[in-house]
Amino acid sequence: MTIEDNIQKLLDKREEAYSAGGEKRIESQRAKGKYTARERIHLLLDEGSFEEYDMFATHHSNEFGLDKQQFLTDGVITGHGTIDGRIVYVFSQDFTILGGSLSESYAKKICKIMDQALKVGAPVIGINDSGGARIQEGVKSLAGYAEIFQRNIMASGVIPQLSAILGPCAGGAVYSPALTDFILMNKENAYMFVTGPKVAKTVTGEDITTEELGGADVHGKKSGVAHFISEDEEEGFLILRKLLSFLPQNNMEDPITTDCEDPIDRKEDLLNEIIPDTNTKPYNVKDVIYAIIDYSEFLEVQRNYAANIVCGFAKFNGMPVGIVANQPNFLAGVLDINASRKAARFVRFCDGFNIPIITLVDVPGFLPGSAQEYGGIIIHGAKLLYAYGEATVPKITITLRKSYGGAHDVMGSKQLRGDINYAWPSAEIAVMGPEGAVEILEGKNLKSIENPEEKEKYILEKEAAYRDKFANPFEAASYGFIDDVIEPRNTRFRIIRALKVLATKKDVNPPKKHSNIPL
Ligand code: HXC
Repeated sequence: MTIEDNIQKLLDKREEAYSAGGEKRIESQRAKGKYTARERIHLLLDEGSFEEYDMFATHHSNEFGLDKQQFLTDGVITGHGTIDGRIVYVFSQDFTILGGSLSESYAKKICKIMDQALKVGAPVIGINDSGGARIQEGVKSLAGYAEIFQRNIMASGVIPQLSAILGPCAGGAVYSPALTDFILMNKENAYMFVTGPKVAKTVTGEDITTEELGGADVHGKKSGVAHFISEDEEEGFLILRKLLSFLPQNNMEDPITTDCEDPIDRKEDLLNEIIPDTNTKPYNVKDVIYAIIDYSEFLEVQRNYAANIVCGFAKFNGMPVGIVANQPNFLAGVLDINASRKAARFVRFCDGFNIPIITLVDVPGFLPGSAQEYGGIIIHGAKLLYAYGEATVPKITITLRKSYGGAHDVMGSKQLRGDINYAWPSAEIAVMGPEGAVEILEGKNLKSIENPEEKEKYILEKEAAYRDKFANPFEAASYGFIDDVIEPRNTRFRIIRALKVLATKKDVNPPKKHSNIPL
């Protein structure tokens, strides 16, 4: 063979690899509004930055007719490229080849890039569109998944791992994303389930559609499995790119501070008026967030799940932070099981990747009642408590209004190593609200008053006395639990100055094999 022949052979092979599972299957993907595996990589990465590995890989199985179904790449495209100039590793599952199902060779390709990403210290992004373990390969494909899971676990907390779900994903194809840090699902065509509707029907008799069992709506609102939902694939890739802009490359680096023209001393007068006169009246805490962060740019995580707590990424004078805020607009901002789990995971992620945590507190307490107790609120609430107490990144807490009971302790309190704790003048820091406190403390006395008017007067007097004592930030400030009471409109500037001061903060936890967070 001449050199020309060899080069032609290479070009032919490349052409073969680019043809994926064939024109018919590509067309059927397109008919659903889906991009091909390779197009997705190009949409995600900086233009021209992708370098592919293992394009010529194939499976090595003969069973169940697989010998007649050989495709170069074997159903997954892997390699590296850049996003905003920073290296990322990527794999993209190709549904046109045997339904994107995972074989031994396919697993090896993913493991190769994961191993390299860990050595290089760069994020991994997985684009998932797969029927799970390749049924014809049996135990070899199960082993392949386990190899990936093990790497997901080892990489956890070392490099960011992001997953996009852009097609039907079942079995191992959902457990690997579940081990990563963030899951994005596309509104259309994306499904996640451990077992699909057909298996559900056979085993439990449940009749349920694919959408109802594991669509984006289910995982965005009910299960909380998906952190982001995109309207279309293009938006999905933009979200992933944006998300990476808040993250460091690995746990040994700090997130990148960018130039910022939004004035650091921008005063927001609306904040002086945002807290309603009555303390049971709701307001939207996101209005506070938008007013204080750079350019009002907030990337919210799990927006439609446990909306009583808001979590997301933003920047202050170009410095990335994680924000956790109670939402008075939804269930009065109460902490329940889902809110605790949501925020705990977010706080732990931020801590693992050196992202300071800003906490905005307006919380009436933990949600009482049997539904929460039977569901294990004790353990789930403890997760959030644990996450805050364990975190060593800079922690800045601003109490906007209510900070009652156990929820006060949990939400970045001084005693959980809050570094700088500010309060607005509207803050109320107490074991519980005046109404509840008077009912408990004055129960006996109230019983002895028979005249309803007198009783009402007595209650109001006692509530006022309790309010005077605790419904303000100064009692807490007198003990140093609050470092300063600040004017709301100065909040942006105070946070930026606090972040600057805390930039060199060091805090350590005692040596241990690993912690035992209440799972
Ligand atoms: C081999 C598969 C496959 C699989 C799909 N295909 N899944 N081939 N192994 N797991 C093939 C189909 O035979 C078909 O081939 C092509 O991919 C497209 O599949 P369709 O069924 O036609 O597509 P669609 O109707 O869109 O349905 C997609 C699907 C469904 C929902 C993903 O295919 C499905 O339910 N697949 C099985 C899912 C599953 O139970 N996987 C095993 C999970 S166990 P042709 O040649 O016709 O184009 C697992 C264990 C891991 O993963 C460990 C976990 C801890």
